[in-house]
Amino acid sequence: MKTNRNNNKSEIILTGDRATGPLHLGHYVGSLKQRVSLQHEHEQTILVADMQGLTDNAHNPAKVSSNILNVVADYLAVGIDPTKTTICLQSQLPALAELTMFYSNLVSIARLERNPTVKSEIQNKAFGRSIPAGFLTYPISQAADITAFNATLVPVGDDQLPMLEQTNEIVRKLNSLAGKSILNECRPLLSNASRLPSTDGKNKMSKSMGNAINLGATEKEIRAAVKSMYTDPNHLKIEDPGQVEGNVVFTYLDAFHSDTQYVSELKDHYREGGLGDGQTKKVLEECLQEMLRPIRARRAELLDDKSQLIDILREGTQVSREKTEAVLFDVKGAFGLNIL
Ligand code: TRP
Repeated sequence: MKTNRNNNKSEIILTGDRATGPLHLGHYVGSLKQRVSLQHEHEQTILVADMQGLTDNAHNPAKVSSNILNVVADYLAVGIDPTKTTICLQSQLPALAELTMFYSNLVSIARLERNPTVKSEIQNKAFGRSIPAGFLTYPISQAADITAFNATLVPVGDDQLPMLEQTNEIVRKLNSLAGKSILNECRPLLSNASRLPSTDGKNKMSKSMGNAINLGATEKEIRAAVKSMYTDPNHLKIEDPGQVEGNVVFTYLDAFHSDTQYVSELKDHYREGGLGDGQTKKVLEECLQEMLRPIRARRAELLDDKSQLIDILREGTQVSREKTEAVLFDVKGAFGLNIL
């Protein structure tokens, strides 16, 4: 495959997704669109995080293995171009596991337990004392992911900020051990729409909560999801004035409708009264159907010939193997271990 990866590009970008389910509209506005535009300006790698996916799914590994290619298809379907962005598979990069082992010595259990994202995940999953060691320590593994590519910029949602903070703590400790700067500190790149609400308006859209609209959703699924969307519970009659804030239909129109003037007129009308939820939902449904139709078609086409997806992943992983091995060598050097 012809590639035009440019090593003089200004930022080194690394980002990733747990391969625990197909990607959805929250990923699309939160990060995928951003990645599509970043790939032209920067050296970008996307990691399919299958090992991180296993940290709370080891009892059901098929949930991870069966979604790896789905996630790659999602990337390509939205316009991530494998000649511009390196797509690689976490479990096939041994340097990541090795770095995790070295970094584990620099992080205390107390520090891991303080990570607010991990803390709330532990509560939500009701692990108690049965929390898998791999789960508690996944921020260390994520630090390995980020530093193994020497990333300077990490596009993430705000729930991932604690991971970047922990990464930079590890980077500082290592640079201090090495007596020179061998690893870059990274900065987050937050998208302005990093938290799309779920269709019921209760949480953010999530792979695991059954409240998501997947990028590969069928026409029928899209229709059903929009129909059941949370609006303004006090907007009982069409004539009633309605509330736009917290009304998921309008949040989605803001996120996805290209005509902002039209959306703002709809909002005014809704606030005044006289605009029914059936109508706003119809506008949203048409917008989503139109947006997702080509993505769904491209995705299905890609998943029809899995060998092409596997080749892309294999090539990206090969390229990444060299980069990550070089960083591992420097990290071993910081510990004085490059003696053979
Ligand atoms: N933690 C991220 C998520 O839950 C996935 C991830 C793994 C990641 N490694 C990463 C994100 C490195 C950014 C950088 O989606």
